[in-house]
Amino acid sequence: MENCVNGSGNCLLAVCLLLLISSSSSSSSSSSTRGSPGVTNVDSVSRVRKHRLPSNRDSSRRNLLANGLAATPPMGWNSWNHFNCKIDEKIIKETADALVSTGLSKLGYTYVNIDDCWAEIARDGKGNLVPKKSTFPSGIKALADYVHNKGLKLGIYSDAGYFTCSKTMPGSLGHEEQDAKSFASWGIDYLKYDNCNNDGTKPTVRYPVMTRALMKAGRPIFHSLCEWGDMHPATWGAKVGNSWRTTGDISDTWDSMVSRADMNEVYAEFARPGGWNDPDMLEVGNGGMTKDEYTVHFSIWAISKAPLLLGCDVRNMTKETMDIVANKEVIAVNQDSLGVQAKKVRMEGDLEIWAGPLAGYRVAVLLVNRGPWRIPITAEWDDIGIPLNSIVKARDLWEHKTLKTHFVGNLTATVDSHACKMYILKPIS
Ligand SMILES: *[C@@H]1O[C@H](CO)[C@@H](O)[C@H](O)[C@H]1NC(C)=O
Ligand SMILES: *[C@@H]1O[C@H](CO)[C@@H](O)[C@H](O)[C@H]1NC(C)=O
Repeated sequence: MENCVNGSGNCLLAVCLLLLISSSSSSSSSSSTRGSPGVTNVDSVSRVRKHRLPSNRDSSRRNLLANGLAATPPMGWNSWNHFNCKIDEKIIKETADALVSTGLSKLGYTYVNIDDCWAEIARDGKGNLVPKKSTFPSGIKALADYVHNKGLKLGIYSDAGYFTCSKTMPGSLGHEEQDAKSFASWGIDYLKYDNCNNDGTKPTVRYPVMTRALMKAGRPIFHSLCEWGDMHPATWGAKVGNSWRTTGDISDTWDSMVSRADMNEVYAEFARPGGWNDPDMLEVGNGGMTKDEYTVHFSIWAISKAPLLLGCDVRNMTKETMDIVANKEVIAVNQDSLGVQAKKVRMEGDLEIWAGPLAGYRVAVLLVNRGPWRIPITAEWDDIGIPLNSIVKARDLWEHKTLKTHFVGNLTATVDSHACKMYILKPIS
């Protein structure tokens, strides 16, 4: 591939063939736990074609992270926001059961992610992480088998430091290869990799070590960089992870939620299929916000192409919570194949207009009222990337209604305090 620096058509074809050959040989030599490596590499080839072609040097360079995952933002659940450290294998299994019985797994919520506090404080005699005997007596492999049998995936948590943030278990710093091997052997599909209690070296040094270890471990594992946005991981994360936190931890309040949304929006240009900005996990259903506020939370996360990782107790959700997180039309915006993160295209005081393109020449628009009074908000075609004279059909994603009126030049809706309206606009002429 070193000969390919000229990036000619023939040369690209050669890269393509080489990748296909290496993928088929790796699939025949790897165990049945592996995903679909063929798809992986075809994906990365199309990426080379579409995005790397202009730069000759780049077109020959393989991405460190070529795991083929995260074509759309990940969806699922994580234990932290609701349970913190108080987790055990029963909760994880019951959550997997609930994701299936509620129908949420069919909507795409397939990752079941264990956060901090799942392991013993000490490694075993050989230096391996040991699942905590009092809370995970059956071990992580058994849990992965259970979750996989339901058509779901299992995520786990570690830390690019000596201890995790809870300090109740070791981190993976200095043990990256060994831990990645453990995760792969257990059947893990997703790793959230935190940043606590490290040695003071840069995340740009510590995180790629785990990326390499995961690639070497031979199982496609979604790599979620939980670096808190300190060193602007959006600018380097795509080569290292499938998502990167752009913010510190969220809490279950309106102010915390909108501030994560703001910090994350700054990096919109860096999100794309394979790697996403992550403003932290969802708080919907945990009780700290109103229904309208949680609707804003879910809408911003969806239009921002953020991971949709539920953070409530899915075994015990109210109808109100289900109405929000099971909105197929809003989920479809998040999972749209174009994979472009929306931006705030206009702000006027407490009023915000967010917009981003979708496949099929459509545009997703979100009108957010952060102020204390009900007020009309107008989205101008000029701001949201629709030609000025276009006649537009609008679908209201929370009312599940296509509006009878067609719109030219702008669309106005009256929005309650701490509430939003969300539309898909499609020019019809
Ligand atoms: C279920 O949720 C309700 C509130 O929605 C709460 O009062 C109750 O304690 C929860 N039950 C369990 C077992 O967590
Ligand atoms: C919206 O567009 C219409 C023309 O279609 C125009 O009459 C109206 O003034 C515009 N409203 C705003 C608030 O820009």
